[in-house]
Amino acid sequence: MEQLQFCAPCLFGSEGILADELKRMGASDVRAQNGRVLFCGEVSLLARANLRCRTAERIGLLLGQFRATSFDQLFEGVKALPWERFIGKTDRFPVKGWSLQSALHSIPDCQSIIKKAIVERLRRTHRVTWFEETGALYRVQFTILKDEVTLLIDTSGVGLHKRGYRQNAGGAPIKETLAAAIVDVTRARLSPIVSDPCCGSGTLLIEAALAAKRIAPGIGRRFVSMEWPLVSYEIWEEERRLAKEQERPDQQIDLYGSDIDTEVLQIARQNAHKAGVAAHVHWNAADLTTFKPQGERGIVLCNPPYGERLLDVREAQRIIRELGRVFVPDCGWQYAVISPDEKFEELFGRPAKKRRKLYNGMLRCQLYLFD
Ligand SMILES: C[S@@+](CC[C@H](N)C(=O)[O-])C[C@H]1O[C@@H](n2cnc3c(N)ncnc32)[C@H](O)[C@@H]1O
Repeated sequence: MEQLQFCAPCLFGSEGILADELKRMGASDVRAQNGRVLFCGEVSLLARANLRCRTAERIGLLLGQFRATSFDQLFEGVKALPWERFIGKTDRFPVKGWSLQSALHSIPDCQSIIKKAIVERLRRTHRVTWFEETGALYRVQFTILKDEVTLLIDTSGVGLHKRGYRQNAGGAPIKETLAAAIVDVTRARLSPIVSDPCCGSGTLLIEAALAAKRIAPGIGRRFVSMEWPLVSYEIWEEERRLAKEQERPDQQIDLYGSDIDTEVLQIARQNAHKAGVAAHVHWNAADLTTFKPQGERGIVLCNPPYGERLLDVREAQRIIRELGRVFVPDCGWQYAVISPDEKFEELFGRPAKKRRKLYNGMLRCQLYLFD
């Protein structure tokens, strides 16, 4: 079977987590880079990675990488890649991308040169002069970082963080892929009890439940590459069957979500219901100052307000002080809090056992872990 090369962008800080996920799926030659993971595998891996990856933003087919500091080099480099292997005579191939710290910095110019080079290549290989672009969608994505060009064709379509359970999100929801990274780092999927006293729309708890029950996050959604001849219907069906086989419907996990905002709890309830994990969660309207862990052993995951989208910085810092008070040490519970506040440990009142850098979008945060 032919080996394909892939590139999966991810949030900064979660590259190692995604690399491990992909290795567990059978990917070979897995290389974690800044904000992305490169890997190889057969075409079935394209379907598997889309269905199962919890921390990838999307899965791209990696067409090639080369250095370019002039438009000529960019044109020739793009034209040399085997676009005809994937894009057919009538297919659509819009081009989008970004450039950072590179000689080629004008995005519209790069975009149009890349489009021209692909057209030139396909004209020769498909022997047509005009591309009507009415067929399946092959979204071309370029990145130019320090003059190194990377070209991908997106296989996912809508970003992989859209699992399909969160139509409603409340004021400042955490991205599903970041929540999944936190669940992975803390090994919350192995904990019998998981609690979130600032649960908002419930994302951390829902991702913990999906991971514990081994429900593939993409099992209920569609991907743009389902329209491509490259990946047959049989491959998708087989990969869906294998993903279903991994599920653990009887896995016990008790989840406790509370928030001061009663409206957001309604949203959390709906989301858990859509995700198929509602039976595991106990929701409760409460101020975190009254938080008490339920049971002898468990883990708290918490994404408190940062003072950016919700509340002001002073109020956000007051909440961190409260967390330090209610998250009682050495009582059988572990606590994981994600925050961008550099004074977090000082405000919390004790040093973290471990810290891990994780980006919430472009915002640099740390995940602080306490016993
Ligand atoms: C950043 S949001 C959490 C988002 C959540 N992770 C999600 O995915 O939707 C912070 C949450 O803390 C809640 N909150 C603010 N002050 C609180 C307090 N004193 N007690 C409990 N919850 C509080 C807000 O209502 C908000 O839902």
